[in-house]
Amino acid sequence: MPKIILTGDRPTGRLHVGHYVGSLKRRVELQNSGEYDKIFIMIADAQALTDNADNPAKVRQNIIEVALDYLACGLDPEKVTIFIQSQVPELTELSFYYMNLVTVSRLQRNPTVKNEILMRNFETSIPVGFFTYPISQASDITAFKATTVPVGDDQLPMIEQAREIVRRFNQTYGDTLVEPEAVIPENEICQRLPGTDGKAKMSKSLGNCIYLADSAEELKRKIMNMYTDPNHIKVTDPGTVEGNAVFTYLDAFSRPEHFAKYLPDYESLDALKEHYRRGGLGDVKIKRFLNAVLEEELAPIRERRQELEANHIEEIYEMLRQGSVSAQKVAAQTLAEVKRSMKINYFEDGALMKEHAERNAQE
Ligand code: TRP
Repeated sequence: MPKIILTGDRPTGRLHVGHYVGSLKRRVELQNSGEYDKIFIMIADAQALTDNADNPAKVRQNIIEVALDYLACGLDPEKVTIFIQSQVPELTELSFYYMNLVTVSRLQRNPTVKNEILMRNFETSIPVGFFTYPISQASDITAFKATTVPVGDDQLPMIEQAREIVRRFNQTYGDTLVEPEAVIPENEICQRLPGTDGKAKMSKSLGNCIYLADSAEELKRKIMNMYTDPNHIKVTDPGTVEGNAVFTYLDAFSRPEHFAKYLPDYESLDALKEHYRRGGLGDVKIKRFLNAVLEEELAPIRERRQELEANHIEEIYEMLRQGSVSAQKVAAQTLAEVKRSMKINYFEDGALMKEHAERNAQE
């Protein structure tokens, strides 16, 4: 069986370092591993509209932004197919059939849906499209026969839901769809990077994100204002590392060689943490170190992004068009198989007439 990756992002804003450590970086590694037969990266505009019905302009504007973020991180259109969800109408058709295989109560129990409903204060006015987006996500995955879905851990219930739909479909209509597996980051810290304010999740509305497109000055300003330990007031005070966003980011981004390069007084992150806990290590010093580490990682991405934005927008637009055309062909193939399995492929052959004649002959 071919190894196929599908994953994607909602274009509701530029991508940030949480996306980067949570998924983007891994995608580039998987792309370069050469182990996959096909890789599809989807800009999930239709899914973004499920909770932005009144703000389509936001979704539209972020399509190119997300594509720039992808390419800047090193996704290579020669190796991956980048496409736009709404340009593959087969996905909505698949969803319509999958809807019959999922109960309302199962969707209500989906932890990601539950949590997102709370976060968005939908209360009793949940858009039906939003409520059913796990089904549409199962279509995204199965349309490409994806075996592997690299995502953040918040998406695990979505993959589980997709697996259930696949099993239910195959049981009911015969083996047709492929059961996908999620791949989440190995480093637990990377699964959910907190915001710069120390809050659980980076989110544009909270204003606590570091974007891949941020300038060196913005990056530095955000790091210098980062949440640390509110009780660590004087340098000599003992400090707490747990829940301290600067240390969480260092857990996610720093490597042993960064110490030799930028902070040779410490041989490792453990040594730095130990000093902080003991007291005598100031926040400014650890923030400057984090800035050096992040700058090293993000500067090449930022530079590539600027170059692409300045000189290659037309090619990116064309790449998205071509990607969408080739994704659509693959999805159409799967949809045809699905309809064959469900025997709703009436005009592919004359079987409908023949069956009618046979039934008549028996009477
Ligand atoms: N739900 C994902 C997110 O919010 C985006 C997405 C849509 C996706 N369809 C997908 C991810 C299919 C993986 C596979 O980021």
